[in-house]
Amino acid sequence: MNIGFIGAGNVTRTFGRHLLTAGHTIVVSNSRGPATLADYVADLGPGAVARTREQAAECDIVILATNWLNVPEALKGIDWRGRILIDATNAHIDPVPDISLAGVTRSRAALKGRRSSEMVAEMAAGARLVKSISNMPMHWIQDFSPNKPRTVIFTSGDDGEAKQLVIELINSTGLVAIDLGPLAMGDAMHDVGGPLSGLDLHLIHRLR
Ligand SMILES: NC(=O)c1ccc[n+]([C@@H]2O[C@H](COP(=O)([O-])OP(=O)(O)OC[C@H]3O[C@@H](n4cnc5c(N)ncnc54)[C@H](OP(=O)(O)O)[C@@H]3O)[C@@H](O)[C@H]2O)c1
Repeated sequence: MNIGFIGAGNVTRTFGRHLLTAGHTIVVSNSRGPATLADYVADLGPGAVARTREQAAECDIVILATNWLNVPEALKGIDWRGRILIDATNAHIDPVPDISLAGVTRSRAALKGRRSSEMVAEMAAGARLVKSISNMPMHWIQDFSPNKPRTVIFTSGDDGEAKQLVIELINSTGLVAIDLGPLAMGDAMHDVGGPLSGLDLHLIHRLR
């Protein structure tokens, strides 16, 4: 599949590499334009190209991978109707995300009881939204070899067909997608600060 990324940082570098290793192609975008991403995509290697946000949004599946404060700008001006959008963000309220318990608690309080994916769904009206890839730090999944640990990536969404495609995409990389149900249920479990966030789930660590 051809996968678009909005945002070109840690998540895109890591998950993009898993996708490329599995034989997918990726289209990477940021706010400053494709010319600024030449070194970034060269480092990712064949199969990765830099394009505009709008072009990234035309891919089979689009992954939103910007910091929370940039999400409104990142989604703006694109007709999301019918597009499959993976929300990989965590709703940190600070420009440099504070992932301490205090920082996470402040960020959750700022949502005033709303779910972050509910807010993304409003900003990307009509998108077939799936929340995933967001439940762990990327440095936990830096093994890109064929023998990588089969690490669990939580997934939730209200559009069953879109979610199934995302699950198949994640599984194709050797990581393992677990479906936590609709957004209202799953998001509350695996969003940052939820009981299933920040869990490093795979066989090797379980047996230590
Ligand atoms: N890092 C992790 O381990 C991790 C794990 C799980 C989830 N997450 C979540 O995933 C999201 C991304 O994290 P990250 O660590 O990859 O962030 P990052 O390294 O800071 O990268 C963010 C990217 O977003 C781009 N960006 C900013 N504004 C944009 C816009 N308007 N349109 C398009 N791109 C824009 C930035 O590039 P320009 O400024 O050049 O546009 C940058 O490439 C965050 O919400 C984070 O909470 C991160």
